[in-house]
Amino acid sequence: MLKLGVNIDHVATLRQARYKGEPTGAVPEPDPVAAASLCELAGAHGITLHLREDRRHIQDRDLRLIRQTCRTRIDLEMAATPAIIRIALELKPEVCCLVPEKREEISTEGGLDVAGGYRTVAAAVKTLRAGGREVSLFVDPDRKQLEASARTGAEFVELHTGAHANAASHAARERELDRLIRGAELAHKLGLRVNAGHGINYENIHDILRIPRLVELNIGHSIISRAVLVGLDRAVREMLALMAAYPAAS
Ligand code: PXP
Repeated sequence: MLKLGVNIDHVATLRQARYKGEPTGAVPEPDPVAAASLCELAGAHGITLHLREDRRHIQDRDLRLIRQTCRTRIDLEMAATPAIIRIALELKPEVCCLVPEKREEISTEGGLDVAGGYRTVAAAVKTLRAGGREVSLFVDPDRKQLEASARTGAEFVELHTGAHANAASHAARERELDRLIRGAELAHKLGLRVNAGHGINYENIHDILRIPRLVELNIGHSIISRAVLVGLDRAVREMLALMAAYPAAS
C-alpha cells in the first residue's frame, strides 16, 4: 500500500504568522502537535516536519512534543548541519530526510546536490545511520544524483516532484513525469527505496500514481490548505482515498 506522510510545517507557518514574537497571554494556535494527532487518527502513516535552521515554522518544542505523542513514524526533513544532526540523534525520528536549505526560499525548491556535496552528505548519512536512523535523500530524478545517493548508503531517496507540479503545459508535465518514472526505476535498480514529494495535490496525484516503485508520498501544502476549508480529518482521508488506486508492489 502506498503510504502517506503528512507534512505539517504549514500548520506551524500559520501559527508563526501571529505568534512568532515575545510570548503573549494567548496560547499560540494552531498547534502542529494537535494537527499531527489528527492526521494520524485520519489514517496518515507518518508525520513529516522540517526543523529549519532559521526556525521559521516548526520549533524545537513541536518536534519534542510530537516525538512524545506520535503513534506512527516521524520523517524529519533536515539540513546536513552538525546542530540539526545532534537534535536528530537525540530525538530519534524514524527517518531523517536530508534536504537543501536556503534562507531565501519559501519552501524546499530544488533537490539536494548529493553528487556535488558528496563528502558532506555521505558523512551525514553515516553518522545518522550509526545512530540507528533510516536516511532519505531528497533529490531531483537525475541519474548522477541517484547514483551518488546509492553510494552514500542511504536507504531511501525522495524524488522531488516540484518540477512536475510547476510545469506550465501538458507537454512539459508529461516530460517531467517521464523523468520521475525513469528516476524511480533507476533508483530501484540501484537498491534504493523510493519516496516522492513536493507540490503534490488532489489533481496532480493522478499523474504521481503513474510513477512505479513508490513507498511513500510526503504531502503538505495541499492537504493543509484543504484542511482550512473542509477540516484536517477530511482532507487527509480524501488524499488517502485517491492514493488507494496505486497498484500493490509486485
Ligand atoms: N518533501 C520534502 C522533502 C519537502 O521539503 C517538502 C516541503 O517542505 C515536502 C515534501 C512537501 O511539499 P508540499 O508542502 O509542497 O506538499
